[in-house]
Amino acid sequence: FSVAAVVAALPAVILAEQRTSKHWELTGEGADIAERGSHEARVFGAIPKDGLLQTELMKLPSGRVGFSKAMSSKWIRMDKGHEGGPRVFRMVETIEDVVRQKLLLVRQGKSAELEEKDKNELKKRKLLTEVTVKSYWITKGGSFSTSITKQETELTAEMISSGSWRDKKFKLYNFDALGMALDCGHLHPLMKVRTQFRQIFLEMGFTEMPTNNFIESSFWNFDSLFQPQQHPARDQHDTFFLSDPALAHEFPQDYLEKVKKVHTEGGYGSQGYKYDWKLEEARKNVLRTHTTAVSARMLYRLAQQEEFTPVKYFSIDRVFRNETLDATHLAEFHQIEGVVADYGLTLGDLMGVLHQFFTKLGITKLRFKPAYNPYTEPSMEVFSFHEGLKKWVEVGNSGIFRPEMLLPMGLPEGVTVIAWGLSLERPTMIKYGINNIRELVGHKVNLQMVYDSPLCRLDS
Ligand SMILES: *[C@@H]1O[C@H](CO)[C@@H](O)[C@H](O)[C@H]1NC(C)=O
Repeated sequence: FSVAAVVAALPAVILAEQRTSKHWELTGEGADIAERGSHEARVFGAIPKDGLLQTELMKLPSGRVGFSKAMSSKWIRMDKGHEGGPRVFRMVETIEDVVRQKLLLVRQGKSAELEEKDKNELKKRKLLTEVTVKSYWITKGGSFSTSITKQETELTAEMISSGSWRDKKFKLYNFDALGMALDCGHLHPLMKVRTQFRQIFLEMGFTEMPTNNFIESSFWNFDSLFQPQQHPARDQHDTFFLSDPALAHEFPQDYLEKVKKVHTEGGYGSQGYKYDWKLEEARKNVLRTHTTAVSARMLYRLAQQEEFTPVKYFSIDRVFRNETLDATHLAEFHQIEGVVADYGLTLGDLMGVLHQFFTKLGITKLRFKPAYNPYTEPSMEVFSFHEGLKKWVEVGNSGIFRPEMLLPMGLPEGVTVIAWGLSLERPTMIKYGINNIRELVGHKVNLQMVYDSPLCRLDS
Protein backbone atom coordinates (compact mmCIF):
# COMPACT_ATOMS: atom_id res chain seq x y z
CA PHE A 1 0.00 0.00 0.00
CA SER A 2 1.11 3.59 -0.35
CA VAL A 3 1.36 5.85 2.67
CA ALA A 4 -0.31 8.65 0.77
CA ALA A 5 -3.36 6.45 0.11
CA VAL A 6 -3.64 5.46 3.78
CA VAL A 7 -3.38 9.05 4.91
CA ALA A 8 -5.99 10.14 2.37
CA ALA A 9 -8.33 7.39 3.58
CA LEU A 10 -7.99 8.38 7.24
CA PRO A 11 -8.13 12.17 7.27
CA ALA A 12 -7.59 13.71 10.70
CA VAL A 13 -6.82 10.25 12.17
CA ILE A 14 -3.19 10.42 11.27
CA LEU A 15 -1.26 13.27 9.77
CA ALA A 16 1.65 12.75 7.49
CA GLU A 17 4.24 15.20 6.34
CA GLN A 18 6.39 14.24 3.44
CA ARG A 19 10.08 14.84 3.94
CA THR A 20 13.01 14.39 1.68
CA SER A 21 16.60 14.07 2.75
CA LYS A 22 19.80 13.67 0.81
CA HIS A 23 22.99 11.97 1.77
CA TRP A 24 26.18 10.73 0.17
CA GLU A 25 26.95 7.06 -0.28
CA LEU A 26 29.97 5.17 -1.58
CA THR A 27 29.60 3.40 -4.89
CA GLY A 28 30.91 -0.16 -5.22
CA GLU A 29 34.23 1.14 -6.51
CA GLY A 30 34.25 3.85 -3.81
CA ALA A 31 33.82 1.18 -1.11
CA ASP A 32 36.68 -0.84 -2.60
CA ILE A 33 38.98 2.20 -2.49
CA ALA A 34 37.99 3.03 1.07
CA GLU A 35 38.96 -0.57 1.95
CA ARG A 36 42.16 -1.03 -0.05
CA GLY A 37 43.38 2.39 -1.11
CA SER A 38 43.14 4.42 -4.31
CA HIS A 39 44.39 3.08 -7.63
CA GLU A 40 47.30 5.56 -7.61
CA ALA A 41 48.30 4.50 -4.09
CA ARG A 42 48.16 0.87 -5.14
CA VAL A 43 50.40 1.65 -8.13
CA PHE A 44 52.84 3.51 -5.87
CA GLY A 45 52.87 0.59 -3.45
CA ALA A 46 53.59 -1.87 -6.25
CA ILE A 47 56.82 -0.13 -7.40
CA PRO A 48 60.01 -1.51 -5.75
CA LYS A 49 63.15 0.62 -5.05
CA ASP A 50 64.79 -0.17 -8.39
CA GLY A 51 61.64 0.56 -10.38
CA LEU A 52 59.33 -1.53 -12.55
CA LEU A 53 58.90 -1.96 -16.31
CA GLN A 54 55.96 0.17 -17.47
CA THR A 55 54.59 -2.83 -19.39
CA GLU A 56 54.56 -4.86 -16.13
CA LEU A 57 52.88 -2.05 -14.24
CA MET A 58 50.11 -1.82 -16.80
CA LYS A 59 49.23 -5.46 -16.15
CA LEU A 60 48.22 -4.65 -12.55
CA PRO A 61 44.45 -4.34 -11.96
CA SER A 62 44.81 -0.67 -10.96
CA GLY A 63 47.59 -0.05 -13.52
CA ARG A 64 46.01 2.15 -16.12
CA VAL A 65 43.97 4.49 -13.93
CA GLY A 66 46.54 4.54 -11.11
CA PHE A 67 49.52 5.29 -13.42
CA SER A 68 48.16 8.56 -14.82
CA LYS A 69 46.85 9.74 -11.43
CA ALA A 70 50.19 8.94 -9.71
CA MET A 71 52.09 10.68 -12.53
CA SER A 72 50.02 13.88 -12.24
CA SER A 73 50.43 13.79 -8.43
CA LYS A 74 54.21 13.55 -9.05
CA TRP A 75 54.50 10.42 -6.91
CA ILE A 76 56.26 8.50 -9.69
CA ARG A 77 58.34 9.22 -12.77
CA MET A 78 59.17 7.35 -15.93
CA ASP A 79 62.60 6.77 -17.52
CA LYS A 80 62.67 5.90 -21.19
CA GLY A 81 66.28 4.94 -21.76
CA HIS A 82 66.24 1.43 -20.33
CA GLU A 83 66.67 -2.07 -21.61
CA GLY A 84 63.31 -3.79 -22.09
CA GLY A 85 61.44 -0.46 -22.39
CA PRO A 86 60.53 2.47 -20.14
CA ARG A 87 60.82 1.95 -16.38
CA VAL A 88 58.77 3.61 -13.65
CA PHE A 89 60.37 4.79 -10.37
CA ARG A 90 59.06 6.27 -7.13
CA MET A 91 59.72 10.05 -6.82
CA VAL A 92 58.86 10.41 -3.12
CA GLU A 93 59.46 8.38 0.01
CA THR A 94 55.90 8.36 1.30
CA ILE A 95 52.50 9.41 0.05
CA GLU A 96 49.25 10.45 1.65
CA ASP A 97 46.22 8.70 0.07
CA VAL A 98 43.84 11.66 0.24
CA VAL A 99 41.16 10.08 -1.92
CA ARG A 100 40.94 7.10 0.43
CA GLN A 101 40.82 9.37 3.49
CA LYS A 102 37.93 11.35 2.01
CA LEU A 103 36.02 8.18 1.17
CA LEU A 104 36.62 6.86 4.71
CA LEU A 105 35.02 10.02 6.08
CA VAL A 106 31.93 9.33 3.98
CA ARG A 107 31.89 5.72 5.14
CA GLN A 108 31.91 6.92 8.75
CA GLY A 109 28.91 9.16 7.98
CA LYS A 110 30.99 12.33 8.23
CA SER A 111 30.49 13.53 4.66
CA ALA A 112 29.59 16.96 6.08
CA GLU A 113 33.28 17.42 6.85
CA LEU A 114 34.09 17.28 3.13
CA GLU A 115 33.98 20.31 0.93
CA GLU A 116 31.31 20.45 -1.74
CA LYS A 117 33.88 20.54 -4.53
CA ASP A 118 35.58 17.38 -3.19
CA LYS A 119 32.29 15.54 -3.13
CA ASN A 120 31.49 16.61 -6.65
CA GLU A 121 34.96 15.57 -7.81
CA LEU A 122 34.50 12.11 -6.25
CA LYS A 123 31.05 11.90 -7.77
CA LYS A 124 32.56 12.62 -11.18
CA ARG A 125 35.00 9.74 -10.59
CA LYS A 126 31.95 7.55 -9.81
CA LEU A 127 33.16 6.85 -6.28
CA LEU A 128 30.28 8.67 -4.55
CA THR A 129 26.60 9.08 -5.29
CA GLU A 130 24.05 11.38 -3.74
CA VAL A 131 20.95 9.52 -2.57
CA THR A 132 17.56 11.16 -2.03
CA VAL A 133 15.27 9.51 0.51
CA LYS A 134 11.60 10.39 0.65
CA SER A 135 9.86 9.66 3.91
CA TYR A 136 6.73 10.50 5.80
CA TRP A 137 6.70 12.03 9.21
CA ILE A 138 3.60 10.53 10.81
CA THR A 139 1.83 12.09 13.78
CA LYS A 140 -1.51 11.57 15.47
CA GLY A 141 -4.32 13.68 14.05
CA GLY A 142 -7.11 15.44 15.88
CA SER A 143 -9.42 12.40 15.58
CA PHE A 144 -6.72 9.86 16.35
CA SER A 145 -8.05 6.50 17.49
CA THR A 146 -6.84 2.94 17.39
CA SER A 147 -10.29 1.64 16.51
CA ILE A 148 -11.70 2.76 13.20
CA THR A 149 -15.31 3.96 13.22
CA LYS A 150 -17.04 3.59 9.92
CA GLN A 151 -18.24 6.92 8.63
CA GLU A 152 -21.88 7.15 7.72
CA THR A 153 -22.60 7.77 4.07
CA GLU A 154 -26.30 8.44 4.43
CA LEU A 155 -28.51 10.33 6.82
CA THR A 156 -31.49 8.06 7.50
CA ALA A 157 -34.95 8.77 8.89
CA GLU A 158 -34.09 6.59 11.94
CA MET A 159 -31.01 8.68 12.71
CA ILE A 160 -33.14 11.82 12.67
CA SER A 161 -35.99 10.46 14.77
CA SER A 162 -33.71 8.82 17.34
CA GLY A 163 -31.30 11.76 17.34
CA SER A 164 -28.40 9.36 16.89
CA TRP A 165 -27.09 11.49 14.02
CA ARG A 166 -25.58 13.80 16.64
CA ASP A 167 -22.95 11.20 17.55
CA LYS A 168 -22.30 9.93 14.06
CA LYS A 169 -19.43 10.85 11.82
CA PHE A 170 -20.46 11.51 8.24
CA LYS A 171 -18.35 10.94 5.22
CA LEU A 172 -17.71 14.03 3.12
CA TYR A 173 -19.08 14.11 -0.38
CA ASN A 174 -16.49 13.67 -3.11
CA PHE A 175 -17.78 15.82 -5.92
CA ASP A 176 -14.82 14.87 -8.13
CA ALA A 177 -15.65 11.16 -8.13
CA LEU A 178 -16.41 9.73 -11.56
CA GLY A 179 -19.51 7.66 -12.06
CA MET A 180 -19.09 3.93 -12.30
CA ALA A 181 -18.82 2.64 -15.85
CA LEU A 182 -22.07 0.88 -16.59
CA ASP A 183 -21.74 -2.84 -17.12
CA CYS A 184 -24.11 -3.09 -20.05
CA GLY A 185 -24.41 -3.97 -23.69
CA HIS A 186 -23.06 -1.72 -26.38
CA LEU A 187 -24.34 -1.07 -29.87
CA HIS A 188 -21.84 -1.56 -32.65
CA PRO A 189 -21.03 1.73 -34.45
CA LEU A 190 -22.83 0.46 -37.56
CA MET A 191 -25.97 0.01 -35.49
CA LYS A 192 -25.58 3.47 -33.96
CA VAL A 193 -25.40 5.06 -37.40
CA ARG A 194 -28.28 2.87 -38.58
CA THR A 195 -30.39 4.17 -35.69
CA GLN A 196 -29.70 7.70 -36.80
CA PHE A 197 -30.54 7.00 -40.45
CA ARG A 198 -33.71 5.23 -39.40
CA GLN A 199 -34.63 8.30 -37.34
CA ILE A 200 -34.23 10.53 -40.39
CA PHE A 201 -36.45 8.30 -42.53
CA LEU A 202 -39.09 8.16 -39.80
CA GLU A 203 -39.04 11.96 -39.48
CA MET A 204 -39.67 12.14 -43.24
CA GLY A 205 -42.71 9.87 -42.87
CA PHE A 206 -41.18 6.71 -44.33
CA THR A 207 -42.21 3.17 -43.31
CA GLU A 208 -39.58 0.46 -42.77
CA MET A 209 -39.72 -2.56 -45.10
CA PRO A 210 -39.31 -6.09 -43.72
CA THR A 211 -35.79 -7.06 -44.76
CA ASN A 212 -35.40 -10.14 -42.57
CA ASN A 213 -34.50 -12.55 -45.39
CA PHE A 214 -30.89 -12.74 -46.52
CA ILE A 215 -31.74 -15.43 -49.05
CA GLU A 216 -33.66 -14.41 -52.11
CA SER A 217 -34.57 -16.06 -55.39
CA SER A 218 -32.92 -14.72 -58.53
CA PHE A 219 -36.47 -13.92 -59.61
CA TRP A 220 -36.98 -11.25 -56.97
CA ASN A 221 -33.34 -10.22 -56.82
CA PHE A 222 -32.90 -9.76 -60.60
CA ASP A 223 -35.78 -10.73 -62.93
CA SER A 224 -38.49 -8.67 -61.28
CA LEU A 225 -36.12 -5.68 -61.58
CA PHE A 226 -35.91 -6.20 -65.32
CA GLN A 227 -32.30 -7.32 -65.09
CA PRO A 228 -31.62 -9.76 -67.96
CA GLN A 229 -30.48 -13.29 -67.20
CA GLN A 230 -27.17 -12.83 -69.07
CA HIS A 231 -26.29 -9.77 -67.01
CA PRO A 232 -22.74 -10.07 -65.61
CA ALA A 233 -24.01 -9.27 -62.08
CA ARG A 234 -25.78 -12.65 -62.15
CA ASP A 235 -22.45 -14.42 -62.51
CA GLN A 236 -20.55 -16.49 -59.90
CA HIS A 237 -18.00 -13.70 -59.78
CA ASP A 238 -20.40 -11.17 -58.35
CA THR A 239 -23.14 -13.13 -56.66
CA PHE A 240 -23.16 -15.88 -54.03
CA PHE A 241 -25.43 -18.73 -55.13
CA LEU A 242 -26.87 -21.19 -52.64
CA SER A 243 -26.20 -24.90 -53.01
CA ASP A 244 -28.83 -25.99 -50.49
CA PRO A 245 -31.63 -25.18 -51.10
CA ALA A 246 -30.42 -24.31 -54.57
CA LEU A 247 -33.83 -23.47 -56.00
CA ALA A 248 -36.88 -21.50 -54.99
CA HIS A 249 -40.35 -22.84 -55.75
CA GLU A 250 -43.20 -20.48 -55.11
CA PHE A 251 -43.80 -17.50 -57.34
CA PRO A 252 -46.98 -15.57 -58.14
CA GLN A 253 -47.65 -17.38 -61.42
CA ASP A 254 -49.53 -14.61 -63.12
CA TYR A 255 -46.81 -12.06 -62.37
CA LEU A 256 -44.04 -14.49 -63.32
CA GLU A 257 -45.58 -14.88 -66.78
CA LYS A 258 -45.66 -11.10 -67.20
CA VAL A 259 -42.01 -10.80 -66.17
CA LYS A 260 -41.07 -13.53 -68.61
CA LYS A 261 -42.99 -11.76 -71.35
CA VAL A 262 -41.43 -8.33 -70.75
CA HIS A 263 -37.93 -9.87 -70.84
CA THR A 264 -38.53 -11.90 -74.00
CA GLU A 265 -40.93 -9.81 -76.06
CA GLY A 266 -41.22 -6.51 -74.25
CA GLY A 267 -44.50 -4.67 -73.83
CA TYR A 268 -45.67 -1.40 -72.26
CA GLY A 269 -43.86 0.40 -75.07
CA SER A 270 -40.62 -1.56 -74.58
CA GLN A 271 -38.93 -4.03 -76.93
CA GLY A 272 -37.70 -6.17 -74.05
CA TYR A 273 -34.36 -7.95 -74.24
CA LYS A 274 -35.46 -10.50 -76.87
CA TYR A 275 -33.85 -13.61 -75.37
CA ASP A 276 -35.03 -16.99 -74.18
CA TRP A 277 -36.00 -16.33 -70.54
CA LYS A 278 -35.54 -19.47 -68.43
CA LEU A 279 -37.42 -20.34 -65.25
CA GLU A 280 -34.42 -22.42 -63.96
CA GLU A 281 -32.34 -19.26 -63.94
CA ALA A 282 -35.01 -17.31 -62.03
CA ARG A 283 -35.37 -20.09 -59.46
CA LYS A 284 -31.71 -20.02 -58.36
CA ASN A 285 -31.37 -18.94 -54.75
CA VAL A 286 -28.82 -16.26 -53.97
CA LEU A 287 -27.67 -14.25 -50.98
CA ARG A 288 -29.45 -11.04 -51.89
CA THR A 289 -27.14 -8.60 -53.65
CA HIS A 290 -29.26 -5.58 -52.78
CA THR A 291 -32.26 -4.73 -50.61
CA THR A 292 -33.99 -3.58 -53.80
CA ALA A 293 -35.21 -7.18 -53.97
CA VAL A 294 -37.30 -6.37 -50.91
CA SER A 295 -38.49 -3.14 -52.51
CA ALA A 296 -39.63 -5.20 -55.52
CA ARG A 297 -41.64 -7.52 -53.28
CA MET A 298 -43.17 -4.54 -51.48
CA LEU A 299 -44.08 -2.76 -54.72
CA TYR A 300 -45.63 -5.96 -56.07
CA ARG A 301 -47.66 -6.24 -52.86
CA LEU A 302 -48.71 -2.59 -53.21
CA ALA A 303 -49.89 -3.26 -56.75
CA GLN A 304 -52.17 -6.02 -55.46
CA GLN A 305 -54.18 -3.52 -53.39
CA GLU A 306 -57.64 -2.85 -54.66
CA GLU A 307 -56.87 0.83 -54.92
CA PHE A 308 -53.40 2.32 -55.20
CA THR A 309 -52.18 4.47 -52.27
CA PRO A 310 -48.94 6.48 -52.34
CA VAL A 311 -46.16 5.04 -50.14
CA LYS A 312 -42.78 6.01 -48.77
CA TYR A 313 -40.65 3.01 -47.83
CA PHE A 314 -37.12 2.60 -46.51
CA SER A 315 -34.80 -0.21 -45.49
CA ILE A 316 -31.35 -0.51 -43.96
CA ASP A 317 -30.00 -4.04 -44.01
CA ARG A 318 -27.33 -6.43 -45.08
CA VAL A 319 -26.50 -7.40 -48.65
CA PHE A 320 -23.87 -9.74 -50.08
CA ARG A 321 -21.57 -9.47 -53.08
CA ASN A 322 -18.56 -11.54 -54.04
CA GLU A 323 -16.23 -8.55 -54.01
CA THR A 324 -12.45 -8.51 -54.00
CA LEU A 325 -11.70 -7.71 -50.35
CA ASP A 326 -9.66 -4.63 -49.55
CA ALA A 327 -9.45 -1.84 -46.99
CA THR A 328 -12.92 -0.52 -47.82
CA HIS A 329 -14.72 -3.56 -49.27
CA LEU A 330 -16.10 -6.69 -47.67
CA ALA A 331 -18.27 -9.39 -49.21
CA GLU A 332 -21.16 -8.18 -47.07
CA PHE A 333 -22.28 -4.69 -46.23
CA HIS A 334 -25.39 -2.70 -45.39
CA GLN A 335 -27.49 -0.91 -47.95
CA ILE A 336 -29.66 2.06 -47.08
CA GLU A 337 -32.57 2.46 -49.47
CA GLY A 338 -35.45 4.88 -49.83
CA VAL A 339 -38.41 4.37 -52.20
CA VAL A 340 -41.35 6.69 -52.94
CA ALA A 341 -44.31 5.66 -55.13
CA ASP A 342 -46.99 8.09 -56.28
CA TYR A 343 -48.74 9.40 -59.36
CA GLY A 344 -46.69 11.70 -61.52
CA LEU A 345 -43.42 11.81 -59.61
CA THR A 346 -40.64 13.40 -61.65
CA LEU A 347 -36.88 13.67 -61.58
CA GLY A 348 -37.46 17.01 -59.82
CA ASP A 349 -39.27 15.16 -57.02
CA LEU A 350 -36.32 12.78 -56.71
CA MET A 351 -33.87 15.68 -56.49
CA GLY A 352 -36.09 17.37 -53.93
CA VAL A 353 -36.37 14.34 -51.69
CA LEU A 354 -32.62 13.73 -51.98
CA HIS A 355 -31.97 17.33 -50.91
CA GLN A 356 -34.29 16.89 -47.95
CA PHE A 357 -32.71 13.57 -46.95
CA PHE A 358 -29.10 14.70 -47.27
CA THR A 359 -29.77 18.01 -45.53
CA LYS A 360 -30.89 15.99 -42.53
CA LEU A 361 -27.48 14.28 -42.66
CA GLY A 362 -25.77 17.65 -42.64
CA ILE A 363 -24.94 17.50 -46.37
CA THR A 364 -26.32 20.47 -48.26
CA LYS A 365 -24.28 20.84 -51.44
CA LEU A 366 -25.47 18.18 -53.89
CA ARG A 367 -24.76 17.49 -57.53
CA PHE A 368 -26.27 14.87 -59.80
CA LYS A 369 -24.53 12.99 -62.55
CA PRO A 370 -26.35 10.87 -65.14
CA ALA A 371 -25.60 7.19 -64.67
CA TYR A 372 -26.74 3.77 -65.82
CA ASN A 373 -28.55 1.22 -63.67
CA PRO A 374 -30.32 -1.77 -65.22
CA TYR A 375 -33.61 -1.14 -63.45
CA THR A 376 -33.85 2.67 -63.28
CA GLU A 377 -34.16 5.16 -66.08
CA PRO A 378 -33.10 7.90 -65.78
CA SER A 379 -30.44 7.18 -63.13
CA MET A 380 -28.28 9.65 -61.23
CA GLU A 381 -25.21 9.32 -59.08
CA VAL A 382 -25.35 11.73 -56.16
CA PHE A 383 -22.25 13.74 -55.26
CA SER A 384 -21.72 16.04 -52.34
CA PHE A 385 -19.01 18.59 -51.73
CA HIS A 386 -16.76 17.28 -48.98
CA GLU A 387 -15.56 20.30 -46.99
CA GLY A 388 -12.66 18.35 -45.47
CA LEU A 389 -11.37 16.85 -48.71
CA LYS A 390 -12.35 19.98 -50.70
CA LYS A 391 -13.76 17.90 -53.51
CA TRP A 392 -16.97 16.31 -54.73
CA VAL A 393 -17.42 12.73 -53.48
CA GLU A 394 -20.05 10.18 -54.43
CA VAL A 395 -22.57 9.71 -51.64
CA GLY A 396 -25.25 7.59 -53.29
CA ASN A 397 -27.08 6.35 -56.34
CA SER A 398 -30.65 7.04 -57.43
CA GLY A 399 -33.17 6.77 -60.22
CA ILE A 400 -36.73 6.22 -61.39
CA PHE A 401 -37.79 2.59 -61.68
CA ARG A 402 -38.42 1.48 -65.28
CA PRO A 403 -41.99 0.87 -66.48
CA GLU A 404 -40.81 -2.63 -67.52
CA MET A 405 -40.41 -3.30 -63.82
CA LEU A 406 -43.52 -1.53 -62.48
CA LEU A 407 -46.23 -2.25 -65.01
CA PRO A 408 -45.96 -6.09 -64.96
CA MET A 409 -46.46 -5.84 -61.17
CA GLY A 410 -49.83 -4.26 -61.86
CA LEU A 411 -49.11 -0.73 -60.64
CA PRO A 412 -51.39 1.74 -62.41
CA GLU A 413 -50.07 3.65 -65.42
CA GLY A 414 -48.97 7.08 -64.30
CA VAL A 415 -47.53 5.87 -61.01
CA THR A 416 -43.81 6.54 -60.82
CA VAL A 417 -41.43 5.16 -58.22
CA ILE A 418 -38.31 7.09 -57.30
CA ALA A 419 -35.56 5.46 -55.27
CA TRP A 420 -32.05 6.01 -53.94
CA GLY A 421 -29.49 4.05 -52.03
CA LEU A 422 -26.18 4.34 -50.24
CA SER A 423 -24.00 2.15 -48.06
CA LEU A 424 -24.07 2.32 -44.26
CA GLU A 425 -20.39 1.43 -43.87
CA ARG A 426 -19.01 4.46 -45.65
CA PRO A 427 -20.66 7.17 -43.53
CA THR A 428 -19.89 5.08 -40.42
CA MET A 429 -16.19 4.88 -41.25
CA ILE A 430 -16.10 8.62 -41.89
CA LYS A 431 -18.08 9.37 -38.72
CA TYR A 432 -15.83 7.28 -36.46
CA GLY A 433 -12.55 7.91 -38.30
CA ILE A 434 -11.99 4.26 -39.21
CA ASN A 435 -9.79 3.75 -42.28
CA ASN A 436 -9.82 -0.01 -42.61
CA ILE A 437 -13.14 -1.80 -42.77
CA ARG A 438 -11.61 -4.80 -40.97
CA GLU A 439 -11.42 -2.63 -37.85
CA LEU A 440 -15.20 -2.17 -38.12
CA VAL A 441 -16.39 -5.64 -39.14
CA GLY A 442 -14.92 -9.09 -38.56
CA HIS A 443 -12.70 -10.91 -36.11
CA LYS A 444 -10.18 -8.07 -35.80
CA VAL A 445 -12.71 -5.67 -34.28
CA ASN A 446 -11.40 -4.24 -31.03
CA LEU A 447 -14.30 -4.47 -28.56
CA GLN A 448 -12.99 -1.46 -26.69
CA MET A 449 -13.61 0.55 -29.87
CA VAL A 450 -17.22 -0.64 -29.74
CA TYR A 451 -17.55 0.31 -26.04
CA ASP A 452 -15.90 3.71 -26.48
CA SER A 453 -17.61 4.88 -29.67
CA PRO A 454 -20.01 7.68 -28.83
CA LEU A 455 -23.62 7.76 -29.94
CA CYS A 456 -24.00 8.76 -33.56
CA ARG A 457 -25.28 12.26 -34.19
CA LEU A 458 -25.29 13.25 -37.82
CA ASP A 459 -24.82 17.00 -38.09
CA SER A 460 -28.33 17.88 -39.13
C1 LIG B 1 -16.13 -15.41 -55.94
O1 LIG B 1 -15.49 -14.97 -57.12
C2 LIG B 1 -14.29 -15.65 -57.43
C3 LIG B 1 -13.72 -15.04 -58.68
O2 LIG B 1 -13.74 -13.67 -58.63
C4 LIG B 1 -14.57 -17.12 -57.63
O3 LIG B 1 -13.36 -17.79 -57.87
C5 LIG B 1 -15.24 -17.69 -56.39
O4 LIG B 1 -15.60 -19.03 -56.60
C6 LIG B 1 -16.48 -16.89 -56.02
N1 LIG B 1 -16.98 -17.36 -54.74
C7 LIG B 1 -18.19 -17.89 -54.59
C8 LIG B 1 -18.50 -18.43 -53.24
O5 LIG B 1 -19.02 -17.92 -55.48
